[in-house]
Order: sequence, then C-alpha cells, then structure tokens
Amino acid sequence: MSIPLRWFEALEQSPVAAALAESALAYPLVEGLHLIGLAVSVGLLVLTDLRLLGLFLREVPADQVLHQLRPWTLGGFAVTFVSGLLLFIASATSLIDNPAFLLKLLFIVLAGINALYFEFRLARRPTAWVAAVRLPTAVRYAGAASLGLWTLVVITGRLIPYVQTGPAS
Ligand code: HEM
Repeated sequence: MSIPLRWFEALEQSPVAAALAESALAYPLVEGLHLIGLAVSVGLLVLTDLRLLGLFLREVPADQVLHQLRPWTLGGFAVTFVSGLLLFIASATSLIDNPAFLLKLLFIVLAGINALYFEFRLARRPTAWVAAVRLPTAVRYAGAASLGLWTLVVITGRLIPYVQTGPAS
C-alpha cells in the first residue's frame, strides 16, 4: 500500500513548509540544528559503541559510559528528529522519491531496532558484564552494528541533495 502523493503535497503546502520556504534564514537554520543534533547524538553514540567494542575508555565500566552519555545522546536525537521532520516537510514530494532519503530512513529503523535489542535484551542484564574490559560477543556485535548503521545514516543523509529524483532533465 503506497501513501497517497496528495498527503505529501498537503505537507509541502502546510503553513510550516510555507514559512520554511519563504524565509531565507529558516531552512539553513533548521539544517544547522539538524547537523548540531546529529553531531551530539551520533558523536556520543560512536564513543559509546567504541567502549562496547573495548577500543575506548577501557578502564571505565561500560554502564557508567552508557548511563552518563545517554541523556545527551537522547537529547541530540530529539533535536535531529524534529529538525529532520521540518526539513522533510519543506520538500516532501521530492524526498519520498529520493533513494538516498529512503535508504537513510531504512538505516535509521534498523539502527533503532538494534538499539532496542541492546537496551531491552542486553543492557537489562548488566551484572554479567558491566565492569569487564572485554564485553560479551553479543554486546560487541550490537556496538559494531550500531557503528556501521549510523555511519550509513550519515552517508545517505549527506547524499540526499546529490541524488537526482523525478524525470531526467
Ligand atoms: C536520527 C538520525 C539522523 C541523522 C544521523 C541524520 C543525518 C543527516 C545528515 C548527515 C544530513 C546531511 C546534512 C548536510 O549535508 O548538510 C542530513 C540531511 C537531511 N536529513 Fe537527516 N538525519 C537524521 C534523521 C532525519 C530524519 C528523521 C529526517 C526526516 C524524516 C531527516 C531528514 C533530512 C533531510 C530532508 C535532509 C536533507 C537536507 C538538505 O540537504 O537539504 N533526517 N541528515
């Protein structure tokens, strides 16, 4: 079942999208927020994943790294998602046709599933591993998967304006 194009047209004609389109400053400001949000969220996630892989802050117990960085990581994601939605509304009809954007959403969903698996299946039973320098295989795999998927999100995000959508001119 495909989502009717008219829904995306309605989004693009919404007052929010009109405000973004009409102001010379609004779109770059929102994109700037998108970059700041992802620098904080993905930046801190990379450090967390490197700890899970035993490559960074090896002497610090993993649960301390997880718990101390989590609020900042989640805060960064909130900024990235809200600004991302605004960027999407501004050019919804062309973005839903953009393979880089669609792939990016797929990688975000896969990274989200990996994060939920980690949170609810691995991090809930920390007694077995929190203080260890070398963490169990499942934890290291989740860290490696997270590192790979968020890297793909950033690469496909960067590719969005470079991918041709719609009929070739
Ligand atoms: C949560 C993780 C996300 C990350 C790490 C991320 C990352 C990025 C990156 C690196 C860019 C390129 C920025 C640039 O070249 O200046 C980008 C652009 C973009 N992102 Fe995201 N993004 C995320 C979420 C979202 C979401 C949820 C949406 C919308 C539903 C979104 C919509 C966009 C759009 C429309 C652009 C293109 C902006 C343009 O070049 O005009 N992003 N994103």
